Amino acid sequence: MLAARARSWTAKTLALRADPRRAAHEVGRACRRGGKSARSRERCGDRRALSRLVERTPLIIAVGAKVAAGHKIRESEQVMSAGAAAMNMLNAVHLLGYGGMWVTGLNAYDPKINALLGFEAPSQLVGFLAVGTPRPTPKDAPKPTRPPRAEHTAEWMG
Ligand SMILES: Cc1cc2nc3c(=O)[nH]c(=O)nc-3n(C[C@H](O)[C@H](O)[C@H](O)COP(=O)(O)O)c2cc1C
Repeated sequence: MLAARARSWTAKTLALRADPRRAAHEVGRACRRGGKSARSRERCGDRRALSRLVERTPLIIAVGAKVAAGHKIRESEQVMSAGAAAMNMLNAVHLLGYGGMWVTGLNAYDPKINALLGFEAPSQLVGFLAVGTPRPTPKDAPKPTRPPRAEHTAEWMG
């Protein structure tokens, strides 16, 4: 077994316990700096979606990788370390009895939002963990289906 030397030292987390008005203001500012192109207008819509999520979610943890360019640990590994830290945080959230969901869809790849939260390239956000208290699952709720294990695993026999 290989010794695991890559620790998640690259992960930096920010708890977004937003004052909704401040979040909306900051997001609006980042939005206006983006210019008037169609792409930028589309991104503004996305940024407002982030500020709405911040408003209605008790806690959002933004997880990002502080990437050191040219380091002997390659960049993909630095980013994966932050991803592993995010997953461990999500497990801890569930262990504590809360509910959490990892989302990237909302601006995790938007350079302006990355910069706003302190992750200028090559550093980058790996995602947002939306955390709250889950509603009890109704007894008749459909069980999530999983693909058969054989579809995504294989055994290498040499
Ligand atoms: C890296 C990553 C990014 C994700 N981004 C989104 C997202 O933007 N929107 C979304 O609805 N689900 C997203 N998901 C999926 C949810 O976090 C969750 O895994 C999914 O709802 C399935 O949950 P389940 O496997 O417990 O049923 C993402 C998952 C991962 C691992």
